[in-house]
Amino acid sequence: MRYCSVSVLIVALLLSPGISSAQQQTKLKAKPDLVKIIDRNLKDAVKQYKILMPHIPEDSLPETFEKGQWTSNPPKSWISGFYPGTLLYLYEATKDKALYDEAMSKLKVLEEQKFANSHDIGFMMFCSYGNANRIKPQAPYKDILLTSAATLSKRFNPNVGCTMSWGSKPGEFRVIIDNMMNLELLTWASKASGDPYFANIAITHANTTMKNHFRPDYSTYHLVNYNSETGEVIRRQTVQGAADESAWARGQSWGLYGYTMMYRETGKTEYLQQAKNIANFLLSHPNLPEDKIPYWDYNAPGIPNTYRDASAAAIMASALIELAGYSDATDSKRYLETSETILRSLSGEIYKAKKGENGGYLLKHSVSHLPRGNKIDVPLTYADYYFVEAMMRYKNLPSKN
Ligand code: GLY
Repeated sequence: MRYCSVSVLIVALLLSPGISSAQQQTKLKAKPDLVKIIDRNLKDAVKQYKILMPHIPEDSLPETFEKGQWTSNPPKSWISGFYPGTLLYLYEATKDKALYDEAMSKLKVLEEQKFANSHDIGFMMFCSYGNANRIKPQAPYKDILLTSAATLSKRFNPNVGCTMSWGSKPGEFRVIIDNMMNLELLTWASKASGDPYFANIAITHANTTMKNHFRPDYSTYHLVNYNSETGEVIRRQTVQGAADESAWARGQSWGLYGYTMMYRETGKTEYLQQAKNIANFLLSHPNLPEDKIPYWDYNAPGIPNTYRDASAAAIMASALIELAGYSDATDSKRYLETSETILRSLSGEIYKAKKGENGGYLLKHSVSHLPRGNKIDVPLTYADYYFVEAMMRYKNLPSKN
């Protein structure tokens, strides 16, 4: 009992809600015309997802629609949590029970992934079960999420101060910026269990990444390869981007979202500053187009004659709406206006699929892995997830006039 209350105190200190005062800094106001667009988008999204639903095999999760074909992946794929997560957001927005039922059936397919030997278990389980538990908290969801967090924590190496991403050669330890997104599962687990260990490793991972992944201009490398014994950096790379020294668009968005979320979860102002520095890099970038939908890499060869990445834009919009709430009036205005531009662009005919098009996915024009020639200029399940999340965040802003 005593152990329990000390643990709860330690978790409360680690995940200190110093943020509440920051959150109050700027009252955000949603633009009524954009809220109307969002309401229409959400209704259209339900119709689209009902078109997508019958094309997903029972034991799989959808990823994309390319050349007239639907592609679904087994539950162990990193993308597996986005589809149930999107359905749950849409259920929250519209109360359409068919979407909730579909989400529930996919949660069952996903459950065994609580033991998945994958750094992406946060994406897989927190976007799915995390949303299910947020909407209708239930003990079995909590157990599954805590088991998932325990599974992820096994990938933590104290010599490096990170959870491991990809498989590595002996003596090496590879970490990608995307892993910042898995930390929310860990901070949640500390709050839910009273065990500070999960939050401790999340904070250590965020600190190590802040030190080693970022360039002086606050752009991020994709991958840092560490010596697994000494924690020294062996090499920095950008595997999914144009070049090692380029700024791969989705990676920048993962970093922005990750540090904004870690500020929310810990109240640590160094994470808030990091998120603002990343936002400043992105919003000031000469290659960020007027419509604020990034090219697949900020340094892609051939700009402006190359692909955009709607997924990077959707993740950025969702993060900027949250960051705007933690910032002073000037920054807040800049972040919110950029997120509004992104949402309007994604709602326009270039990016938003017409009913019945795009295999039922919401957004067109995302890029998965261009150097590998993999899923280029297609719909992607995670673009839809963060688009819907961003719309829900915007719609739920406290003030609407
Ligand atoms: N985590 C993989 C990606 O962003 O493509």
